Amino acid sequence: MLLKKNYDLIIFGATGDLAQRKLFPALYQLEKKKYLVSSIRIVGVSRTDYTIKEYLDIIYNSLKKFLNENIQSSVWKSFKKRLIFITIDINQIQDFAKLIPYFKKKNSTIINYLAVSSDIFEKIFEGLSSVKLNTLNSKIVVEKPIGKSLSTFSIIEKSIKKYFFKKNIFRIDHYLGKKTILNLIRLKFFNPIFNKYLNKRYIDHVQITLSESIGIENRWNYFNNTGQIIDMVQNHMLQIISIFAMKKPKLFNRKNICNEKIKILKSLRIINQKNIHDYVSLGQYSSGNINNHIVKAYINEKTAQKNSSTETFVAIKLYIDTKKWKNIPFYIRTGKRLFKKSSKIVIFFKNQQNILFKNKYIHTTLNRMKIDLQPILDIFSKNKTKELQLNSNTTYKKNKLFGEDKQLFLKNHSLEEYERLFIEIMQDRQFLFVQQKEVIYAWKWIDPIIQAYKNCPTLLQYYNSGTWGPQSAFNLIKKDKKKWDNT
Ligand code: BG6
Repeated sequence: MLLKKNYDLIIFGATGDLAQRKLFPALYQLEKKKYLVSSIRIVGVSRTDYTIKEYLDIIYNSLKKFLNENIQSSVWKSFKKRLIFITIDINQIQDFAKLIPYFKKKNSTIINYLAVSSDIFEKIFEGLSSVKLNTLNSKIVVEKPIGKSLSTFSIIEKSIKKYFFKKNIFRIDHYLGKKTILNLIRLKFFNPIFNKYLNKRYIDHVQITLSESIGIENRWNYFNNTGQIIDMVQNHMLQIISIFAMKKPKLFNRKNICNEKIKILKSLRIINQKNIHDYVSLGQYSSGNINNHIVKAYINEKTAQKNSSTETFVAIKLYIDTKKWKNIPFYIRTGKRLFKKSSKIVIFFKNQQNILFKNKYIHTTLNRMKIDLQPILDIFSKNKTKELQLNSNTTYKKNKLFGEDKQLFLKNHSLEEYERLFIEIMQDRQFLFVQQKEVIYAWKWIDPIIQAYKNCPTLLQYYNSGTWGPQSAFNLIKKDKKKWDNT
């Protein structure tokens, strides 16, 4: 058993999409691996009035759906003993008293996990404080996106600090818990060739794709008030960019890493109403075909409003104005209902042949290095080798440079991101969590983009589900004589 402290967990939003898709499967895995303290209770809170049987059925079915393996009856038996369910209407502060009987006598540290929209964080802080569950040691875990803008984020931060101690605040961006992202940090800083060649002398441009084939599932309300820019770019994408682009910190600790990441965030060239047309493409999915299934348009999803102009796709051309990255374009894109799930960084190198072969072998296709971020970290180089052969066939050679063993990875089922993040919280370690300043600078860059889109609604184009996004995303990169890597 890894963890010795006495913990209890309260999950607000226990029957929501995040809890079902990610949190309970992760907790089940921790149970299976015997990482949970024997006394831990997992109190699920939701506004709907379920009986305990109905609640257990919901959790069981979500495990069945999202676990990627069969549920072991012995593990489920011990896991379900920990599950408690309470209905709380957060607008009724007196409802929070329902938590008291569970915590009155027990001397445990409480982890309050808010798997709900940040619009209602404040009400929950107040409710917890009204029943004194925000003790000296109580932890508060908040999910991204925190707020919808810098100003709403600041209000939430003020309020969270009113009720909880700084050391007990855990801001989650689950990408930071992914092993592949941790490996990217390792690879960058402990592998000298990597840093040496990542600069404007060698790089032509960088592409980052976080694409998904799923739609917005049962989260229309959340998503429609959020949109893809805030759901994915403000957090996951900016984390990847800042980790990829940051300089090696003097000391390899959280503070120094964070400072280096912030330098990147501060250097992102501003995109606003004046230049949004040159730098941003936005889309919303129409119906289409994904894996031989016809899927609905965004506006026909359950509970949707037909006139929604929320973006489900965004592509951005951005620049990082630091000495190292100046004028190297980064093309980033992320969207729902795209051709396939893919998370990758592709680095396109400048042609070196003209240096090597005195201009004799100049061609237009660039050599590239692809870093696959999911499900395992894989790095390939793809080199055009035509010029070195004496026949006329152009071939691409795909060379694996670095990679984890997929079979071994699946067999060992090493910790998934939320398992790792739960353990870190229980161990009181902040290393994998986002600092307030990072969020501030992320919002500073995102706010003008969101504002500009509000003022230019015609930017939104429709794309068929199962494709790589709207035409404007192709044009964004084509006008620079480049092409998205869709391999
Ligand atoms: C979440 C977003 O943060 O990340 C979801 O809210 C998205 O919209 C998910 O589907 C993607 O995460 P992953 O780990 O599947 O790439």
